Amino acid sequence: MIVAVDGPTASGKGTIAQALAAHYGLPHLDTGLLYRAVGRQVALAGGDPDREADALAACDFPADLLTDPELRSEASGGLASRVSVHPAVRQALYQRQRRFALQPGGAVLDGRDIGTVIAPEAEVKLFVTASIPARAERRFLEMRAQGRAADREEIAADLARRDERDRTRAAAPLRPAEDAIVLDTSGLDRDAAVAAAIALVEARR
Ligand code: C5P
Repeated sequence: MIVAVDGPTASGKGTIAQALAAHYGLPHLDTGLLYRAVGRQVALAGGDPDREADALAACDFPADLLTDPELRSEASGGLASRVSVHPAVRQALYQRQRRFALQPGGAVLDGRDIGTVIAPEAEVKLFVTASIPARAERRFLEMRAQGRAADREEIAADLARRDERDRTRAAAPLRPAEDAIVLDTSGLDRDAAVAAAIALVEARR
């Protein structure tokens, strides 16, 4: 069984994908991490994330970059969002994601275009979303728990900016696949969101 989990940043899609993978005993790939690694690599190499050639060269990032905690930062998320608009970057990361999806036992992948581009044949496609205030609040609490300075307004503005860039880009824009089930997690805590996702998978498979 292939499970595709797409949606915007801080919608809960990563948590849900991880929980579904554990529940069904499937391997999980956070595809956002690949784009974050490319963004970080461009920065490390002193390149320009908005230049396709620089971003493409960064797709050859060293494997151990994927475990760098810096990839989780807001800065890396912003860089990821910029390098991910380039078709050549999406193409360069395609095979790796596709191979992961086609493992014999199945897999769970989360990202922006899993149900539409990477694994359109997925048995289950969830599109996880939540309101900007709900997502900003989660990000705010997360950052505060890490002892980092955070401002709700600033976080909300940044989320809105990244949503806009992800939704309006020409290459693989963020949108639900036609056969995706939309799960709005705005009013749900972690456990409720995971339970809802499992119920949706059960109904589909
Ligand atoms: O999901 P995450 O916030 O880690 O993704 C970071 C950025 O990478 C997103 O804003 C998006 O621009 C890009 N991305 C993408 N396609 C994916 C996963 C992430 O374009 N499958």
